[in-house]
Amino acid sequence: PLDLSTTICGKKLSTCIYNASGPRTGSSDALSKVASSRSGAVLAKSATVNEQTGNPLPRTFQADGKGSLNSEGLPNKGIDYYLSQDTIEESMGESGKPYFVSISGHNLADNLAMLKKIDSVDGVSGVELNLACPNVIGHPIIAYDFDQMDAVLSAVSKLKLQKPLGVKLPPYFDGPHFAAAAKVLNKYKSSISYAASINTVGNALVVDTVAEMPAISPKGGFGGLSGPAVKYTALANVKKMRDLLDETIDVVGVGGVETGEDAFQFLLCGAAAVQVGTKHWIEGAKCFDRIVGELEELMEKKGYKSVGEFRGKLKPWS
Ligand code: DOR
Repeated sequence: PLDLSTTICGKKLSTCIYNASGPRTGSSDALSKVASSRSGAVLAKSATVNEQTGNPLPRTFQADGKGSLNSEGLPNKGIDYYLSQDTIEESMGESGKPYFVSISGHNLADNLAMLKKIDSVDGVSGVELNLACPNVIGHPIIAYDFDQMDAVLSAVSKLKLQKPLGVKLPPYFDGPHFAAAAKVLNKYKSSISYAASINTVGNALVVDTVAEMPAISPKGGFGGLSGPAVKYTALANVKKMRDLLDETIDVVGVGGVETGEDAFQFLLCGAAAVQVGTKHWIEGAKCFDRIVGELEELMEKKGYKSVGEFRGKLKPWS
């Protein structure tokens, strides 16, 4: 039997594939479908302190099978919902899988308040701090402002949380930006279990030729780009972060993963685990069964018995 397991936040995941925070993660009904699939873990939608409905509709668009655009504006049921024992029980059932929450507060005080709450809740294996949402009107992407990112992580590290912390990053595109982001994360390495690269590529624009309008309504049509169009950017970010981050910080790969082969490429680039967002949105939770099956097939063909045999072993071009 093949070993597709991995460890994130000190918890064993039966497979190294799981869902990204975002689509189909807002309710226990949706999360339970992930738990019942071959997903190795379950990660909830980025929460705010209070329930909110998000940006005006229409706010999502699936372009041409190659890219998807969203400006959801963090619709979610509020942190207390994702931390309630009823939600956790309804979502996870008897799966025994790790359950992670995600937070994206309106400000630092909100994030600190939510982290304090999360820290004492049984059944939560860790928290992903989203520093990369591109869709909150009037709020720039935190992790593009390295001083603000440092201030946030400094305050978070002072909480001395018991629960492991992941940080969701936006895509970076230039050497000095990769270096600056990695430097801040490494400064707080004792408080960070993993970095997840990437959130959507912010502020993309899809134009409707017939209507001569943007495809979505909020923010003048600007939204986060995801799906296959961003896979190569995501692979680059995983590879760069794996090279630059302290070895104690895992890198979780996310961005445009549709197949087992895509997941294999992220693992080669050093991902400890691979999340699936847009394809989960399009295909539903059965995508995890398919992608895990395809990864198994590819490993068998290549003669690999466990993920550890090839993880991080991308060869130099020759
Ligand atoms: O593309 C995204 N959309 N990234 C996020 O972090 C949040 C989400 C939304 O709700 O707008």
